[in-house]
Amino acid sequence: MNRSRMLNRLIVAFAIALVIGFIGPASAGEKEETSPAQVAAGAKSWADNCARCHNMRSPSEFNDYEWNVIVDHMRVRANLPGDVARNIKAFLEKAN
Ligand code: HEC
Repeated sequence: MNRSRMLNRLIVAFAIALVIGFIGPASAGEKEETSPAQVAAGAKSWADNCARCHNMRSPSEFNDYEWNVIVDHMRVRANLPGDVARNIKAFLEKAN
């Protein structure tokens, strides 16, 4: 498969994922349910990871929407797996 065909397939797959994201069970605007265990795991991962490169930022400094964007960005910087990032979000959205 050449590069442009592969790119096309990637774009189609992304578009499908986007549509499923919109019509799926956790539809836009709705918050996913988080378990207490997830929040607790998130608190630990937050403490372990989020002060490695800079001072710890208080959860109350940002709202849920902002944390969502920040953790997506920091997840890449910190090289965290998706489930860890989701737990950290769950914690921050409870603690802010
Ligand atoms: C590998 C180093 C590294 C790790 C680990 C890291 N950060 Fe960051 N963080 C940065 C850098 C660099 C910046 C500033 C530049 C940028 O935005 O990329 C930053 C900026 C920030 C900001 C400032 C955003 C703003 O608008 O003021 C916040 C908040 C933040 N990080 C939170 C976190 C959280 C939460 C975690 C844990 C999930 C985390 N960081 C882990 C490197 C890191």
